[in-house]
Amino acid sequence: MRLKITILPGDGIGPEVTAEAVGVLQTVAGIHGYKFEFQEHAIGGVAIREFGSPLPRTTLDACLASDAVLLGAVGAPEYDRLPANQRPEAGLLLMRRALGGYANLRPAISYAAIEDCSPLRSEVVRGADILFVRELLGGLYFGEPRGFATTNGTTVASNTMVYSVEEIERVARVAFAAAQQRRGKVTSVDKANVLETSQLWRQTVTRVAEEFPEVTLNHLYVDACAMHLITNPRLFDVVLTENLFGDILTDEAAVITGSLGMLASATVGGEVGLYEPVHGSAPDIAGRGIANPCGAIASAAMLLRHSAGLERDASDIELAIEHVLDAGYRTADIAAGGPVESTAEMGRLICEAVTEIADMRYAYHAV
Ligand code: IPM
Ligand code: MG
Repeated sequence: MRLKITILPGDGIGPEVTAEAVGVLQTVAGIHGYKFEFQEHAIGGVAIREFGSPLPRTTLDACLASDAVLLGAVGAPEYDRLPANQRPEAGLLLMRRALGGYANLRPAISYAAIEDCSPLRSEVVRGADILFVRELLGGLYFGEPRGFATTNGTTVASNTMVYSVEEIERVARVAFAAAQQRRGKVTSVDKANVLETSQLWRQTVTRVAEEFPEVTLNHLYVDACAMHLITNPRLFDVVLTENLFGDILTDEAAVITGSLGMLASATVGGEVGLYEPVHGSAPDIAGRGIANPCGAIASAAMLLRHSAGLERDASDIELAIEHVLDAGYRTADIAAGGPVESTAEMGRLICEAVTEIADMRYAYHAV
C-alpha cells in the first residue's frame, strides 16, 4: 500500500493537531509496512504571510497530485477585516472546489467515557451516533451573483442560494448509501416552507429515496432539526443537508460529543479526498500544546477508510481513541477538572493503543 498524502497544517492549532494525526498514520504504516509519503504545504493565514495568497498554486498542485489531503485548520484574527475573498477561509473554499468533493461526512458520536462533558444530560446524549452528510460545493457558499453594490449612497450585499437537481441527487446518493451501511434511516433537512431551493431539495431527495427502498426517509425543517438534535439526538442516523445548514448543525452537534475537538470529517466524491477536523484554528489556545488532537486523528482514520479502502486500520484508530478515553486520559477541553494531557501526549497514547490493538489481532490470528 502506497499513499501520497498532502498535509496542510494551516493556522492556529492546525499544525499541532495535524502533527499528531501524521504520527498516528506513521504508526499504522510502520505496523503494516505501508509506504505513506507526506508532503507539507501552506494554506490559509500562513500562506498569505509567506506567499501572499491563502491558496498558493504550489499547494493546490500538490493537493491535486496526491491521493488524499489532510488539513488542520484555517483562520486567523489578523485577517478578520479583509474582504471574504482574501481571508484565510477563501483558501479552504477554493481548495474544496478544486478537489471536487461534494459530500462532507461529519460523524457526531457520544463516547461513553466523556458523556459527562456534554452540557446536555447524559441520558439525552447516551448512545447518540449521527452521520451528517453536508453538501459542500453549492448553496450560499458558492452561488452567484454575490457581492456588494453601492447605489445612491446605499450599500447592499447579496449572496445567492442555488441548487441544481444534479447537485442534490449526487449528495443524496452518498447519504442513502451510508445509511444502508448503518441503521437505514435518512433525515433530510431543509427549509421547504420558505425556500425554493429547499422545495427542489425535498422533491429530489424523495425521488432518490426510491433507489434505496430499504432506507427510510423523513424530512425536517432546519429550525425543528436544530431543536431535536439537542433534545433527542438518538432520533437521528444519517442527516442530509445543504451547505450552510450543515455548517451550522454540525457545530451544534458537537455539544452531543462534548467537545468540538472530537469531531472529524471527510469530503468525498471528488478527484482527491479531503480530511479535516470540524474545529477551527482556535487562536486563543494556539501554540500552547493543549489542543485536542482527536478530531484530526479521527480525520486521518477517515482518510484511510475513504481514500485507501483500509477499513480495518481506520476502525483500529477509532477504537484506539475510544480506549484512550476509556482509560481516563483527557485533553483540557474534555478534562472536567481532572488531570490534563498535552496534545502530543494524547497523540502518543493513541499511537500506543493502535499498536496494542494491532498486536492483539495478530496474537489472536496466530493461535
Ligand atoms: C467548517 C468551517 C468552514 C465552513 C469555514 C472555515 C470556511 O466552518 O468547515 O465547518 O464554513 O465550511
Ligand atoms: Mg463550520
